[in-house]
Amino acid sequence: MKREFMEMMHFRHACKIFDSQKRVPKEDIEYILEAARLSPSSFGMEPWRFLVITDSGLKNELKPLCWNQDQLSTSSFVVVIKAQKEILKPNSEYVKKMFQRRDLPQERIEAYIKKYSEFMRDKLDNESLFCWSAKQCYIAAANMVDAAAAIGVDSCMIEGFEKEPVEKLLKIDRKFEEVALIITFGYRIKEAPKKVRLPLNELIEWIE
Ligand SMILES: Cc1cc2nc3c(=O)[nH]c(=O)nc-3n(C[C@H](O)[C@H](O)[C@H](O)COP(=O)(O)O)c2cc1C
Repeated sequence: MKREFMEMMHFRHACKIFDSQKRVPKEDIEYILEAARLSPSSFGMEPWRFLVITDSGLKNELKPLCWNQDQLSTSSFVVVIKAQKEILKPNSEYVKKMFQRRDLPQERIEAYIKKYSEFMRDKLDNESLFCWSAKQCYIAAANMVDAAAAIGVDSCMIEGFEKEPVEKLLKIDRKFEEVALIITFGYRIKEAPKKVRLPLNELIEWIE
């Protein structure tokens, strides 16, 4: 398990071009999406929604809005992660539902809702709400690319896109949600370049 996990971490790389002839089977797409679904989120709000695009026409339309990156046109499928906003407001039915689904006594649920309302107090403007929500989306994104690597599927996260034109193309209502991140998936046609990372001793400070 320990060794396999690290092998998977090394296998995953930002794949710049995929084999456009190869398609990821539906059950493997669902496996990757399940990793997103099981991801942790602050207060368990699951503030992500996923648009899964396999349609070549739409992938090609997205490409020029994503810095013309080949990953868009050559990928087998694309996941657009939409960060929710409106439903996260403390008085929403959604928030109530997310706490009530837990097997907890009513007073504990009410305490959670109160805590959440206090926590969200300074995050209720549009930008802060999007930022908080997008942070959670990135966690789901990391789990998706790692799950993909575990089954030999390559990926590339795409932050290089023009946000508003993409949202317009995908008919996203910005009052309710915004695009946090795009991820492309497929199979590599080139070997992955050497991994470059800072050494651990430059990253870590131990307090013992
Ligand atoms: C949030 C995020 C956004 C990224 N956006 C792009 C992108 O738009 N295009 C691209 O080619 N790579 C993108 N990358 C890939 C990074 O450049 C890459 O992960 C980094 O250089 C490390 O290389 P590796 O993933 O191959 O180990 C993105 C990575 C992350 C985490």
